Amino acid sequence: MTRIVVVGSINMDLVTLAPRFPGPGETLLGHRFLTAHGGKGANQAVAAARLGAAVAMVGALGRDAFGDQLHQGLAKEGIDLAHVARLDDVGSGSASITVAEGENQIIVVPAANARVTPAQVGAARETIAHADAVLVQLEIPLDAVEAALHLGRRLGVPVILNPAPAQQLPREWLPLASYLIPNQHELATALGEDAQTDFRELMRRAPCPVVLTRGGDGAWYRDDAHPEPRHQPGFAVEVMDTTGAGDTFNGALAVFLGEGLPQAVGKACAAAALSVTRLGAQAGMPRQTELDAFLADPSRA
Ligand code: RIB
Ligand code: NA
Repeated sequence: MTRIVVVGSINMDLVTLAPRFPGPGETLLGHRFLTAHGGKGANQAVAAARLGAAVAMVGALGRDAFGDQLHQGLAKEGIDLAHVARLDDVGSGSASITVAEGENQIIVVPAANARVTPAQVGAARETIAHADAVLVQLEIPLDAVEAALHLGRRLGVPVILNPAPAQQLPREWLPLASYLIPNQHELATALGEDAQTDFRELMRRAPCPVVLTRGGDGAWYRDDAHPEPRHQPGFAVEVMDTTGAGDTFNGALAVFLGEGLPQAVGKACAAAALSVTRLGAQAGMPRQTELDAFLADPSRA
């Protein structure tokens, strides 16, 4: 069984569906509201668990109602929460999400996620040592991200860095990542480069293997075995909500990495395609059987 450790955020998503995005100072009538479990770390953990991996999370929740619900949700997915702290003096993370015209706008308040520490990562050393891969994103403090990169490197466990939300990264971190998995904007920002630069050129400039996600257009990848960026086409599906598509991609890629990068990128694209057909970050994430059926016949989505 593939073992994955996710070091990352856990949020309650407050999702509003609207006909369009409001302007500053404007009030709009929306047509639906729901709460959904989210956070990039938790989403990636759930994506990997649904696809059959044994998943452990390192993170933090408040001791509030959202924290209880999020903890229960992750436990139900079979995720090991021994390294998820419950903090008394801070609330759980949240994300206010507006979905309109097939796009989303998100404001994240990290709250407890801002209190994930390098010491917590160190405390998970044994779990990480036995993992096939570690997944980390940028919704927790950068010193905790750095601790995960260094520990993975020291233990010989591949670390997948999803540099989201976009942030410029210390140049010396990038070679510590076994794979960097950004979208185009995140890659340009992480490298401190102009976002107008051709994304293939950005991929060549990164000092580590890169898998670049392109939404409906699939993904591009470049590693030592494929030094020139290669394209994996996307799968055509009816898009309901793209929130968490990148997270599904990351979680799936970690699970299937053992099959080789081209195969893993193809399956990650398929998993992400399925995820956007349902409302909410985690709702559409496929189980292994659904993914296999979709890959056998993509028109089933
Ligand atoms: O990547 C999607 C996630 O970003 C949402 O679930 C939301 O919580 C934000 O963190
Ligand atoms: Na979804």
